[in-house]
Amino acid sequence: MQKKTVLVTGGAGFIGSHVSVELINAGYDLVVADDLSNCDMTNFEGLKQITGRDDIPFHQMTFCDEAATEKLFSENKIDAVIHFAAFKAVGESCAEPLKYYGNNLKSLINVLESARRHGCRNILFSSSCTVYGEPEKTPVTEQTPRQPATSPYGNTKQISEDILRDSVKAYGNIRGIALRYFNPIGAHPTALMGELPRGVPNNLVPYITQTAIGKRECLSVFGNDYPTPDGTNLRDYIDIVDLAKAHVCAVRRMIDDKMEADYEIFNVGTGKPASVLDLVNAFEKVSGEKLNWKFAPRRAGDVIAIWADPSLANEKLGWKAGRTIEDSLLAAWNWEKKLAR
Ligand code: UFG
Repeated sequence: MQKKTVLVTGGAGFIGSHVSVELINAGYDLVVADDLSNCDMTNFEGLKQITGRDDIPFHQMTFCDEAATEKLFSENKIDAVIHFAAFKAVGESCAEPLKYYGNNLKSLINVLESARRHGCRNILFSSSCTVYGEPEKTPVTEQTPRQPATSPYGNTKQISEDILRDSVKAYGNIRGIALRYFNPIGAHPTALMGELPRGVPNNLVPYITQTAIGKRECLSVFGNDYPTPDGTNLRDYIDIVDLAKAHVCAVRRMIDDKMEADYEIFNVGTGKPASVLDLVNAFEKVSGEKLNWKFAPRRAGDVIAIWADPSLANEKLGWKAGRTIEDSLLAAWNWEKKLAR
């Protein structure tokens, strides 16, 4: 059988590169595109090294460019698209909403238009648990109502889900899956790919590893008086390789005609909540390093507690998270140490 080709937009980024490795391992051909606005080629080079493939086509382009998007689809036979390419900094989106709405929505619309025009039926969209806001009940299922977004970034994820849902319904020649990620952490076990945050990291794990390596003075743990067992926020931290594998299952479900509706949503999480202090303690355990940290005031906009009910993905995608927080933190630490060399 002829190999199927998957277009990975944003494929040089943290999630996109890990997904690309798993797609190649699963026997798919790839076309990778990225505008490199928030990453360099480090992860793409890692992808080539890990898979031993020197021939993966790479296009430096933005999907906001309608003509370039159209050209890419006319020159390649694409069977499925995984659309990662988007801006993702919550704080920046509050300061520059038009940049976020412009980039994140325009690129999705262009991808959908070109996909439709060129007979590419299958669209996988990377959404986020941010669409649930502060949920009334945890864990959240896909039926848990979405809450009004608290940032333009979060709003682009909600609107993008709606654009995909409405387009699938109206046009009939495309179908879509939205994967709602919880908190992706870790790095590739080879330490050839990982997170490369620009400037001061916003996210917890890069902040932890950068503090341990000496790039940052001290980790601030934001808030110790939340109504949670240890007073710090609860999240569902999902290993990046596990997360990547969920995409392969979702792509296969689309390409193999196994979808039960033309638009489906799946939570991608472990189902296990962990607190900020759980992460700090697990990091110290696996790294053998003493982490310099202190309590600091709550960070504006943080939800108190959210974690996934992943049973739908477990059942329908045949996917389950297998790695522990310790596995992910060790991989992230090895990656940080490698960057320092
Ligand atoms: N945290 C700290 N210190 C830090 C960084 C983070 O204590 O230096 C805490 C946060 O307060 C939070 C937890 O670590 O309790 C996780 O924070 P992250 O910034 O790593 O991740 P978020 O849960 O804030 O991010 C999630 C999604 C995003 C989404 C965001 C919106 O992963 O996609 O929620 O609220 F945009």
